[in-house]
Amino acid sequence: MTQKPLAAATTLVHAGRPPRGPGMPVNTPVHLQSIQYSADSPGPGDSFYGRYGNPSWDGLEEVLGRLEGAEVPAVAFSSGMAAISAALTALLPPGGTVVLPRHAYLSTIAMALDLAQKQGVSVVQVDIADTAAVVAELDGAALLWIESPTNPMLEVADLPALVQAAHAAGAKVVADNTFATPLVMQPLTHGVDAVVHSVTKYLAGHSDVVIGAVVTRDDQLRQTILAHRTLYGAIPGPMEAYLALRGMRTLALRVERSQESAAELARRLAEHPAVREVRHPSLPGDPGHERARAQMSGFGSILGIRVRGGAEAADAVVQRTSLWLPATSLGGVESSLERRRRLGAETTTVPVDYIRLSVGIEDVEDLWTDLEAALGA
Ligand SMILES: Cc1ncc(COP(=O)(O)O)c(C=O)c1O
Repeated sequence: MTQKPLAAATTLVHAGRPPRGPGMPVNTPVHLQSIQYSADSPGPGDSFYGRYGNPSWDGLEEVLGRLEGAEVPAVAFSSGMAAISAALTALLPPGGTVVLPRHAYLSTIAMALDLAQKQGVSVVQVDIADTAAVVAELDGAALLWIESPTNPMLEVADLPALVQAAHAAGAKVVADNTFATPLVMQPLTHGVDAVVHSVTKYLAGHSDVVIGAVVTRDDQLRQTILAHRTLYGAIPGPMEAYLALRGMRTLALRVERSQESAAELARRLAEHPAVREVRHPSLPGDPGHERARAQMSGFGSILGIRVRGGAEAADAVVQRTSLWLPATSLGGVESSLERRRRLGAETTTVPVDYIRLSVGIEDVEDLWTDLEAALGA
């Protein structure tokens, strides 16, 4: 009898547990160890020292690999940036060209520019929503880097078209799936070569841990990524891996609630007189709406607004909220917001009056009351 595959919500709860048996723990234990008893002649997969492996990572890696449809475990890292560094190093040779969204996460852009200085790579920044413009830059490129929706501007890339064009040009493709989460989009199923995550965000979900991961179906690439982690040492802590997996057990509920609230808030914000513009792919008028409908199963829980009155007015809105946290980062159970351009490193094409909001799982009416008061004062 062939078994029906489990839904993601069930995988999230049941996968990645220790084997069943009387007296066995139901949760992956936290293994606080740097050494293990060693075999006389350890094989390549044998873990005998904490930088090579820790059983505390296994559950998290298994669940994330399955969620992304990889059929092999993810490779967990000490942070999203460590995961990004491993993917960039593996797929971008010295002197190679990477095509990158102009509105990608600011440290991803900074890392690519750092590699440009130190290893002579070329960085071409594009509007990732403009498919023709991206395709025009792919000739001779080694790597196409995708964020969709982008951080912070929420542009939606045409994933299938870009993957096809990149592969035809001989380039590999990496997608940062932090914003969508594998519940809403699975880039590997669109042919992307590797997915990276800031697990720090939705996957862990409680703003209490920094951790990352790379997921790929390509065995050779996965071995390269694993070897990079072991050699360069950006391994996750056992406690962090435990917390991330514990957070992931409730991911389906959190994503469902926060997406629904984000879409509702986007609708209301679009009618608010203090708001010039709302960005959320759920809105029928949003430039990414049709694409998001075609390639995502939801619209995500991050939205952006431009407020009337410029940077000062935007700062005042952020400061006046009492429920929403004025904080960077995103994807936690608590709603937060920030004016991105207050950070000197943010891309200058992000408008100065743009506030990025991360919608959490609170009651949507409470969130609206707080936001409306902050906007209207
Ligand atoms: C889209 C995206 N990718 C990667 C990162 C980096 O992840 P970490 O902070 O876990 O290193 C972030 C952090 O904000 C992010 O928003």
